[in-house]
Amino acid sequence: MFTIRKRSLILLTAAILFISSSLFCLSVLAKRPDNVSILMAAPFADSTSELVKIFNQKNRGRIHLEVIKGPLETEAISDLAISSLLLGNTPFDGLLMDVTWVPKYAKAGWLESLDNYFNEDDLNALAEGADEGNHYQGSLLRWPLNADIGLLYWRTDLMDEPPRTPQELESISQKLQNGGRIPYGYVWQGKQYEGLSCVFLEIIDGFGGEWFSPDSGRIGLDESPGLDASEWLNHLIQTGVSPRAVTNFAESEALQSFKSGQAAFMRNWPYAWAELQKNDSQVRNKVGITTMVAEKGHQPAATLGSWGLSLLKGSAHPESTVEAFKFLTSEESQRYLYTKYGNTPTKAEIFNDQKLLENYPSLQSIGEALAYARSRPETPLYAQISVVLQRKLSSSLTGMTTPVEAMQQAERSTAQVLEAAGESP
Ligand code: GLC
Repeated sequence: MFTIRKRSLILLTAAILFISSSLFCLSVLAKRPDNVSILMAAPFADSTSELVKIFNQKNRGRIHLEVIKGPLETEAISDLAISSLLLGNTPFDGLLMDVTWVPKYAKAGWLESLDNYFNEDDLNALAEGADEGNHYQGSLLRWPLNADIGLLYWRTDLMDEPPRTPQELESISQKLQNGGRIPYGYVWQGKQYEGLSCVFLEIIDGFGGEWFSPDSGRIGLDESPGLDASEWLNHLIQTGVSPRAVTNFAESEALQSFKSGQAAFMRNWPYAWAELQKNDSQVRNKVGITTMVAEKGHQPAATLGSWGLSLLKGSAHPESTVEAFKFLTSEESQRYLYTKYGNTPTKAEIFNDQKLLENYPSLQSIGEALAYARSRPETPLYAQISVVLQRKLSSSLTGMTTPVEAMQQAERSTAQVLEAAGESP
């Protein structure tokens, strides 16, 4: 009798122990945080690293955010993202997307709509320019992390006013160069990569033309403004206003050259401002910013850049991913990213903050330039037509073809790309 009771007691205790340890394991499992990963281009992975730490501390046990650092240049990171997306199950929940990628990714069905996560008030709070390039066919597919815009940087110690036309930019440069005040006039992005397409868009638009209009199907390379733009860029190198080395310059090389006092003008994005104010800069407190030059009678054009966060289809944790997006793009995060890294904010309110404007006077000029924002052609075929343009421009800048031939060939190849995809121009 006693042994039976003792045995049942032992069995009961074992069962209780088993059930409670299983319950404990289940509760631990249930509490496991949502692991959220976002792929970002290297500079953004670096600039957001402190914010990610703060987000993870705040959400300990709920969400764990990991940022995967991709390569630096837009084409390289897009190739990386596309190769994983083509394999099916995406290894990322979110992707920091360049503005030009949206139509292609949307058409491929890789993006989840953000319409249910951001409302009218959120959209209305965006600054002019920052609200562009986030929708495709009526659906919100990207939430902007920064605004970006092509700017002309000029040396306030070498001239009173910045040039407004291509002729003025050239004549001021030559005067300064001939007087031995500066080795070069103008540095820009002339390497064969996406930056060159951004440079070209500003010039062709400033000459009153248009590269390609997806709405009308018109290509404007092999006609006066396109040819003039190509010839002008070439001419800058031929006359020595720009160093021959610009054909190998991306953003950072142009920045290094201008920062070390080698040039009177530079074309770059707003982040360069913060770099130019650092202690190691030869041009600290000697730089103004404005929009790119334009032919008389035409508006200046500023290529719309910008990076934004997109939710990938197949994410296991869409809500938590969007929570991370909201944190990284919050007003506080934007102030931090602007004051520490020069990442242009996207919320209109920040551009009106008097205290910030006093300490960062460039913010006003950046805000003004946003009004001149011009998008690169919004088509799923953008990457292909941009590569065509870069190749042809680069071959003329390096003397392999004439600027006119380059544009004629670019026009023909662009038409072929569009035709092959069934989008005849
Ligand atoms: C900047 C812009 C981006 C552009 C790239 C070109 O990152 O924000 O839109 O494609 O420069 O290098």
